[in-house]
Amino acid sequence: MDVSRLVLGTMYFGTRTDERTSVAIIDAFVAAGGRTLDTANCYAFWCSADGRGGDSERLLGRWLAADAGRRQLVEIATKVGQEPTGSGVEGLSAEVVLRECDRSLERLGVETVDVHWAHGEDRSISLAETVTAFGELVTSGRARRVGVSNHPTWRVERARRLAADAGVEPFTLLQLSTSYVEPRPGTTVEGKDHRFGFVTDETIDYLQEHPELELWAYSPLVQGAYDRADRPFPQVYDHPGTTQRLAVLRAVAERRGVAPSTIVLAWLLARRPQARPIVGVSTLEQLDAALAVADIDLEPEELARLDDPR
Ligand SMILES: NC(=O)c1ccc[n+]([C@@H]2O[C@H](COP(=O)([O-])OP(=O)(O)OC[C@H]3O[C@@H](n4cnc5c(N)ncnc54)[C@H](OP(=O)(O)O)[C@@H]3O)[C@@H](O)[C@H]2O)c1
Repeated sequence: MDVSRLVLGTMYFGTRTDERTSVAIIDAFVAAGGRTLDTANCYAFWCSADGRGGDSERLLGRWLAADAGRRQLVEIATKVGQEPTGSGVEGLSAEVVLRECDRSLERLGVETVDVHWAHGEDRSISLAETVTAFGELVTSGRARRVGVSNHPTWRVERARRLAADAGVEPFTLLQLSTSYVEPRPGTTVEGKDHRFGFVTDETIDYLQEHPELELWAYSPLVQGAYDRADRPFPQVYDHPGTTQRLAVLRAVAERRGVAPSTIVLAWLLARRPQARPIVGVSTLEQLDAALAVADIDLEPEELARLDDPR
């Protein structure tokens, strides 16, 4: 398995995860062959001293500034749209997209990010305005690629059509939550506020028809529930599909002598359409468990059993 396909999520770096630990995790990730760091302008406002985002980007900025060679080693992805304003969130107007990208670049201390994401939907603004602003991020050199998170598939398709019509860079990446087990359809997961935040069968179908698009999977380890008795799966995961899947997952993990979460990451990377897992870790031990995916090349029979555990 290619470790460079893993993305390191840095949501809590500089807030819940202290500077020293965060830096040690980034260093170890990069030393192991990891290349991609995911952040957002709003991380992590709900844990920060002033209730505002920016701590994660600022920490990455300090890490980059400590050694001029580091910028060449990593790809940086950040997001706009979900920073609170007092009365709601900032949204995706052209003014916000361009202004906030500049602020992100400043906090990160870089001239360009590798991916700039629309973090969540803003239906108060015309999609054409948002799409044109993201196109401008690329033409102005602020971003290399643009992606879209927490949007329903029909809006992604419409945004890509608008970009084609306007002759600007389209969204080519999707960031959604998915894992080996999924919540019951029609339920909401506490703490997951985006109505269209989960990969669905429709997403899979769309990606199979559009192999040029990349999927990044957020919260792939369901807060560590696969490995930890102190972190039970939220109640909405309690259904027969989960029981079957966990039985097969645990059997494969036991046979391989690794944590179930390592097999979850291996499966996300191996299945079609492939997903790049965004790994959230707060200790070096948790990072090691994720990096153990490097030694796992799932055999076709294992993959088939995991895909269809009935
Ligand atoms: N686009 C979006 O809207 C969105 C939303 C959420 C997240 N994200 C991205 O996705 C990344 C990951 O999100 P997440 O933190 O929600 O992911 P997650 O996979 O659901 O949970 C990560 C947490 O699981 C626990 N964990 C991980 N590995 C473990 C192990 N081997 N053993 C025991 N516990 C383990 C840790 O909890 P403790 O730290 O408590 O020990 C860790 O912080 C974020 O950093 C961010 O970049 C994007």
